[in-house]
Amino acid sequence: MKLNIAVLPGDGIGPEVTKQAIKALQAIALEFDHSFSFTHAPVGAIAIDETGNPLPEKTLDVCEATDAILFGAIGDPKYDNNPDAKIRPEQGLLRLRKSLGLFANIRPVKAYDTLIEKSPLKKNIIQGTDISIYRELTGGIYFGEKFLSEDGDTASDLCLYTKKEIERIAHLAFKAAQTRKNKVTLVDKANVLESSRLWRKVVTEIAKDYPEVALDFLFVDNAAMQMILNPNQFDVILTENMFGDIISDEASVIGGSIGLLASASVGDKYAMFEPIHGSYPQATGKGIANPIASILSAAMLLDHFDLTEEATVIRKAVEKSLLLNITTPDLNTEHTVSTSKVGDFIADYISNPNDSNLNFSNIHLGQSTII
Ligand code: IPM
Ligand code: MN
Repeated sequence: MKLNIAVLPGDGIGPEVTKQAIKALQAIALEFDHSFSFTHAPVGAIAIDETGNPLPEKTLDVCEATDAILFGAIGDPKYDNNPDAKIRPEQGLLRLRKSLGLFANIRPVKAYDTLIEKSPLKKNIIQGTDISIYRELTGGIYFGEKFLSEDGDTASDLCLYTKKEIERIAHLAFKAAQTRKNKVTLVDKANVLESSRLWRKVVTEIAKDYPEVALDFLFVDNAAMQMILNPNQFDVILTENMFGDIISDEASVIGGSIGLLASASVGDKYAMFEPIHGSYPQATGKGIANPIASILSAAMLLDHFDLTEEATVIRKAVEKSLLLNITTPDLNTEHTVSTSKVGDFIADYISNPNDSNLNFSNIHLGQSTII
């Protein structure tokens, strides 16, 4: 298959983790005889520095002209501590999601057996966790009308949803549940918010089209508690934009590191793949950022084009790196391996999964991955 992929590395650790995902994709292209080309474009703080715009017109053009987008991370502390900044790196990501109509953000959360001891949560609670979060991505409080009074003393953000916006992501969530454990949990705050009551009404109606899928409801405060109390009760979680943002960071604790969580953002026409972690500015350039979330986002990209076998090969290579503890400091305090060495290992393993060739003790010494 021929794929043109837009690469938007963004800020902080974005460029270094995205580089590792590209290595994995290049290894796949070679092994499976595909042709993947990569077109880089700036977004976020780096784009503001270069052009004054967090999403330059040219970057959007590149995204619209390619088959899929691989996104790194966004954000820079020089904007975080300045509430008066009118131009912010995050606007680049939000405009990208809105302009490309990426209304569904899919975030898988899994407890890997090999990492079960790494999570701060108890093994018996997290073992077997396998959740798919469907977060609405182009509506709600993120995109509703914003208001700041002249005197700067009053502000508001409107949370607005239409029936259509709810329906289109709800269908995707129910379809996903059909291929999994046939359960959808709608997370909302219907005891307080009118918009959440609309979600309940619309989703209850859609559930009738999927009689084999069980639908239940949880208020978001309770869901936040249930997520770490009994994550095994969840299959597909369907929720609005901001609740999904918060719940998915919380869910990352189950896997042992936020550096493991990948995501796909899809719409009717375009698709973008990105780790759920942020730009982690303190780690920039130190080679300590975990590239696995980005590499697993590349696997989701392959899934999107029905390259299922290829995606499985990437996931197997990731699992092998976890099993052999070829991991960055978030997962491994004794023999840490750098971001790019983890990427090298995974790419090498894709090309040569034959265990007997691996000399992983050398990897911990920072030497070659394969002898
Ligand atoms: C995410 C991020 C973004 C969001 C930020 C960077 C705007 O936290 O993708 O989860 O809030 O959606
Ligand atoms: Mn987030």
